[in-house]
Amino acid sequence: MRSLLAAAGLVFASFSVLAQPGTLERLKTLQADPVALKAAVEAGRKASFFCANCHGETGISKMPEVPNLAGQNPSYLLEQIRKFGSGERKDQFMEGLIKVLKDEERVQIALFFASQGAARSKADAGQVARGKELFAKLCTRCHGDGAHGNDQYPRLAGQNLVYLQTSITRYRDGTGVRNNQLMSIATATLKNDDIVAIGNYLTQLP
Ligand code: HEC
Ligand code: HEC
Repeated sequence: MRSLLAAAGLVFASFSVLAQPGTLERLKTLQADPVALKAAVEAGRKASFFCANCHGETGISKMPEVPNLAGQNPSYLLEQIRKFGSGERKDQFMEGLIKVLKDEERVQIALFFASQGAARSKADAGQVARGKELFAKLCTRCHGDGAHGNDQYPRLAGQNLVYLQTSITRYRDGTGVRNNQLMSIATATLKNDDIVAIGNYLTQLP
């Protein structure tokens, strides 16, 4: 049953990426051309001036509930921008903001934040070992050993602790703010103190 659900989730996950072939294709084209990529990153820096109010000028947020975008995988960023735009992912402010961005700006902004050096935060040292153990057992198969993610899965290393804990809890509890079947399954057995331990482990990773 579990693996069947996981397989169904995988199908959904790939559909959601395929739902925006235009922008994803554009992102890949730019990534393959160093000169065009450099120009796109610069355009993204300019286009993201308003985002900096909350996410920081280089994507390192100063507010605990706002995620860092620096060093995140660009296709993941693009996909989350799409989800806010379509209302699949809920956040009053983000949903409104994203609607005014043109497709090309979305791609440029994703490439800009992705190109910036990732953050790293302090953690409660007493939580890290248990968080590491839980993460290795339940999460690395998608997010990777160092939690750097890949083209399909987000980077979690160095993410803000409060944001991590809120996000993991939302997936587990099925609040409807963010739905993802793979993440609901992966977090189903976590207790609140497991989420604290995993968050502390992830936030201090380079
Ligand atoms: C008023 C503050 C604010 C501004 C301005 C803002 N954001 Fe956000 N952003 C947030 C918050 C808060 C979240 C987390 C929402 C949640 O809890 O799911 C978020 C989440 C995101 C995410 C998801 C990151 C992840 O790890 O899943 C992306 C991508 C993003 N914002 C991009 C942008 C872009 C691009 C702009 C500028 C056009 C922008 N944001 C402007 C507050 C802001
Ligand atoms: C089967 C693959 C898979 C496994 C296993 C998995 N994840 Fe995820 N994770 C994903 C996908 C896909 C997303 C993006 C979902 C979306 O679009 O909301 C995600 C998103 C996240 C996010 C949101 C990141 C952000 O920037 O907002 C967090 C936090 C997270 N996962 C933590 C975990 C933890 C902790 C575990 C282990 C308990 C785990 N994941 C296991 C696939 C997985």
